[in-house]
Amino acid sequence: MLILGIESSCDETAAAVVEDGRRILSNLIASQVSVHRPYGGVVPELASRQHLAHIGPVVRRALDEAGVDLSRIDAVAVTQGPGLIGSLLVGLCFGKSIAFARGVPLLAVDHLEGHIRAAYMERPESEPIPHPAISLVVSGGHTGLYLMSEEARYHLLGKTRDDAAGEAYDKVAKRLGLGYPGGPVLDRLAGHGDPKAIPLPVAKISDGSHDFSFSGLKTAVLRAVRERNIEPLAEGEDPMARRDILDLAAGFQKAVVEALVATTGRVTRRSKARAILVSGGVAANSWLRSEFGRLGAQLGVPVVLPSISLSTDNAAMIAAAGYLKYLRKEFSGLDLNAEVELRLGEGPVRRSQRHL
Ligand code: KG4
Ligand code: ZN
Repeated sequence: MLILGIESSCDETAAAVVEDGRRILSNLIASQVSVHRPYGGVVPELASRQHLAHIGPVVRRALDEAGVDLSRIDAVAVTQGPGLIGSLLVGLCFGKSIAFARGVPLLAVDHLEGHIRAAYMERPESEPIPHPAISLVVSGGHTGLYLMSEEARYHLLGKTRDDAAGEAYDKVAKRLGLGYPGGPVLDRLAGHGDPKAIPLPVAKISDGSHDFSFSGLKTAVLRAVRERNIEPLAEGEDPMARRDILDLAAGFQKAVVEALVATTGRVTRRSKARAILVSGGVAANSWLRSEFGRLGAQLGVPVVLPSISLSTDNAAMIAAAGYLKYLRKEFSGLDLNAEVELRLGEGPVRRSQRHL
């Protein structure tokens, strides 16, 4: 069965056609990065307007590339939230219209569940992910750690108390004059720096919770910039010639990844989880990928990371999450509304999970 996935929660307008929740026939993204770059972050109103301009053409191209027309689509999956309200509404209305016109089910998807499903999509069917599993979602808007006692059952164990991991990357990059989004460029530069040259604290919370906090680390980076008189990169300047920026990038990246690995490792041990999943835009990070690989080897559990193109926002993951809803017949009505703050896995705590 074919699902048309639509994603518009932040600054990417994306559409995909996915067969049986796994086989990607097309997966297209209209990026707005160049529109938001001059502002160093996403400007919500500009994002909504860009979605409006792009949604039609992107869906058209996704269908063309998949070699199908609308009459072949069995259901429409669309991101309901969390995200920017104006952005969400564009994708939601467009998805509703198609479902209405075609008379097919409308499937409302939680963006974070979409990120988690990205980890399942590429896994060979002969090697299902064992459960219980721990799933870490690290993106520009969210940092959450989930226990999955079984597939598609989520229990939130911890989240960030302030900045999301990707947000910290973006803010630090902005301060260093590295542009937006900050993750990919800091990732590239960090590989050439010395993480020990500028000491930074690991972003730890020591009250026994499994929450994260990145604003202290971000402040420490900004303090180091001030104290060491580190100038932001000037226009046209080669960052590879800036030892101070390379070292700061390396130290920052090491501290972020160390915090993510330490907490994920701890809950994996305590819950006796049999797999670790890491997804979301920051899961594209090269140091994160290698450090989680090491953690998996240490704990003797598989670490499942989506490929880079499925780590960052895309609509194939939305179609994949929609497929689960389709199988469970969880269809939405045409009165479906956008939810800025959907809360995946924040239901009541079961007794077996309290000790975690
Ligand atoms: O999941 P995503 O595409 O959008 C949200 O749902 O937020 O994540 C975007 C975030 C941005 O903050 C971006 O800087 C970060 O992911 N990111 C990275 C890398 N690639 C993207 N962070 C670190 N290293 C990367 N290679
Ligand atoms: Zn995302």
